[in-house]
Amino acid sequence: MGGGGVDRLVKSLLLLLPVLLCCEALRESWQPGNYTNSTADAQRFLRDYNSTAEEVFFFSVSASWNYDTNLTDYNSNLQVSAALEEQAFTEAWGKKAKQVFSNELLDFEDKRLMEGIMLLGPANLPQKEREEYNTILSIMERIYSTTKVHPRPNISWSLEPELTDIMAKSRSYKTLLYVWEAWHNDSGVPIKEYYPRFVELSNKASRGDGFNDTGAEWRSWFESQTFEQDIEKLYRTIEPLYLNLHAFVRRKLYNFYGPRYINLKGPIPAHLLGNMWAQTWNNIFDMMVPFPDKPNLDVTAEMVKQGYNATHMFRVAEEFFTSLDLAEMPEEFWEGSMLVKPEDREVVCHASAWDFYNRKDFRIKQCTTVTMEQFITAHHEMGHIEYFLQYKDQPVGFRDGANPGFHEAIGDLMSLSVSTPKHLHKINLLESATSDEETDLNFLLNMALEKIAFLPFGYLIDQWRWGVFDGRTTPDKYNSEWWYLRTKYQGICPPTKRTEDQFDPGAKFHIPDNYPYIRYLISCFPVQVEWSQATSRTHCYFISYILQFQFHEKLCEAAHHTGPLHTCDIYQSAEAGAILKYAQAGSSKPWPDVLQEAIGTREINANSLMKYFEPVTKWLQEQNVKETLGWPEFNWVPPIPEGYTGDG
Ligand SMILES: *[C@@H]1O[C@H](CO)[C@@H](O)[C@H](O)[C@H]1NC(C)=O
Ligand SMILES: *[C@@H]1O[C@H](CO)[C@@H](O)[C@H](O)[C@H]1NC(C)=O
Ligand SMILES: *[C@@H]1O[C@H](CO)[C@@H](O)[C@H](O)[C@H]1NC(C)=O
Ligand SMILES: *[C@@H]1O[C@H](CO)[C@@H](O)[C@H](O)[C@H]1NC(C)=O
Ligand SMILES: *[C@@H]1O[C@H](CO)[C@@H](O)[C@H](O)[C@H]1NC(C)=O
Ligand SMILES: *[C@@H]1O[C@H](CO)[C@@H](O)[C@H](O)[C@H]1NC(C)=O
Ligand SMILES: *[C@@H]1O[C@H](CO)[C@@H](O)[C@H](O)[C@H]1NC(C)=O
Ligand SMILES: *[C@@H]1O[C@H](CO)[C@@H](O)[C@H](O)[C@H]1NC(C)=O
Ligand SMILES: [Zn+2]
Repeated sequence: MGGGGVDRLVKSLLLLLPVLLCCEALRESWQPGNYTNSTADAQRFLRDYNSTAEEVFFFSVSASWNYDTNLTDYNSNLQVSAALEEQAFTEAWGKKAKQVFSNELLDFEDKRLMEGIMLLGPANLPQKEREEYNTILSIMERIYSTTKVHPRPNISWSLEPELTDIMAKSRSYKTLLYVWEAWHNDSGVPIKEYYPRFVELSNKASRGDGFNDTGAEWRSWFESQTFEQDIEKLYRTIEPLYLNLHAFVRRKLYNFYGPRYINLKGPIPAHLLGNMWAQTWNNIFDMMVPFPDKPNLDVTAEMVKQGYNATHMFRVAEEFFTSLDLAEMPEEFWEGSMLVKPEDREVVCHASAWDFYNRKDFRIKQCTTVTMEQFITAHHEMGHIEYFLQYKDQPVGFRDGANPGFHEAIGDLMSLSVSTPKHLHKINLLESATSDEETDLNFLLNMALEKIAFLPFGYLIDQWRWGVFDGRTTPDKYNSEWWYLRTKYQGICPPTKRTEDQFDPGAKFHIPDNYPYIRYLISCFPVQVEWSQATSRTHCYFISYILQFQFHEKLCEAAHHTGPLHTCDIYQSAEAGAILKYAQAGSSKPWPDVLQEAIGTREINANSLMKYFEPVTKWLQEQNVKETLGWPEFNWVPPIPEGYTGDG
């Protein structure tokens, strides 16, 4: 796994070292040439940009990869100086383009490329601030990725695997409370001091490109004047389903933890939902199962029994994609990827997929453990690689999703099929493929705990960030605004008192890969400040959670599926796979055009999602006739138990 590729990379980096350490300025061979204000020269400029950008991005992505897979000071320095050189490149070419060319020289696509080149991002900042910006990102990433919780002096727990595992499996109120609070304290508080400055610099960079603030810049990726209203409308559509799921889950938790800790008219304490951020709830499915006598649809135990390992999980995922006539993973993927957590060094465990921009190297970094959840994550990440492979022959400037939500949707789309009992049976992880009403409800409730529980979270994260970036939420209100929104939308509350001395959004923060600017420009992650963890989801994810069901419905139709939408498995359907080949356009066209070509609509809507969940929506409504929907007693706080520790 990783070893060979990483060694090779380290070697190639060592060769580059003399250059690196001497200059953060742009090396001669990466400087733009001389051009005149003519169509022929503008086209030549774009070709030159393309070939130079491939080299520059390869260089800077490699430095980020080396840092993320080996968090040392030395690698951090190399990574920061590579980011600076990339920014020098962006600045030189962007300024040259602005000086020389008029926009009317070019046709629609080339104009789109040229406009992208003219956006400078962090390269708008003066040198000193650029250094500060890159360094802050590097530091925040490191804090988040290396934080350890020490329940006793001689014991040390990382987010992955220990803390994640405890959050998923422990059913002890006190243990969960300890882990939750310790993680939020230990990762969030140290990030707090860097974040306000980061916001300042990031806004300044965005203003340099004509956006009011960084939030406005992110929204611009969706190319919609009414983006905020659009997603508000989407959220309102699914909200009733969320409220029903919430009420049902709260009742089950009440039955288990009792009236002391659960108020049937209040929000749910945030640490009881199986996930550090309460963003997906499927880890507590065992407490929720509607019909416990039916087959267990969490196949983790079966995977362990069959001796699954990380490579095998990714091989099985790959086989799913190739069964749709999509690409297999290139040799470089298997050589270069980091699929298990190394023992001998600190790494960024957050799962991510990487495009090295040379049309050859594509990798995944994931601290894979043998669980069904990680199996699904493997499909998600591989979906990104499939997308990279589809558009790899586009000019560098178009190597991105039609909009960021598209990128996130592809892999999840696969897991809608992979998780079905029918499919799990086909790949020999489930003994029988019974499809009766009760098994179906078990399945759908589990899917709702993953997909529906996520939506208010994805939605509120943006509300928070937009407020922070446009200045409505000042640093002295970061944490209280965070909890205000968490309660308002998710209906959860902090299990202990949180104040402005803490920084709980920072405990979810992650600054993953210091992606190069071009990705920063058009993709999700890069915002460089990411809301993370293996299943991290941001606004891109919010859109993707809706969009994936639209695609699923269309792909199922192409695969000649009959019966309810949730029973569809597109496995082995080249017709379904063909629809995904519209991804080849990358970001060369406005996304509504791509959506139109692929699935015949220009609109993102929640109809397919509502259709998919219809049976469980009805069932939940029946279960909840006597429940209070929502949390009218929103100010209620749970009592703090005596002496909670990691031992509880
Ligand atoms: C660009 O123009 C400058 C000044 O006119 C000249 O010195 C330089 O050699 C030219 N560069 C290239 C690559 O032609
Ligand atoms: C990690 O980086 C250090 C440089 O800081 C290097 O000496 C070491 O060999 C690297 N480890 C691996 C496994 O690549
Ligand atoms: C480029 O040339 C056009 C005329 O062909 C002119 O209108 C335009 O102002 C020029 N642009 C720049 C940036 O010099
Ligand atoms: C940690 O230290 C305690 C007390 O010194 C000892 O009893 C325990 O076995 C140690 N645990 C481990 C995992 O080393
Ligand atoms: C978290 O921080 C608060 C405030 O400093 C402190 O009272 C509490 O004991 C800490 N909890 C843990 C588990 O570190
Ligand atoms: C930018 O901010 C100004 C002043 O607050 C406001 O008038 C303007 O509409 C904003 N522009 C955009 C594109 O949001
Ligand atoms: C992982 O599993 C595959 C298939 O069962 C096996 O061929 C391979 O040797 C295993 N790899 C490791 C590192 O155990
Ligand atoms: C530049 O873009 C084209 C797509 O137009 C791509 O296929 C090509 O290989 C890229 N790279 C280089 C080095 O020309
Ligand atoms: Zn993703």
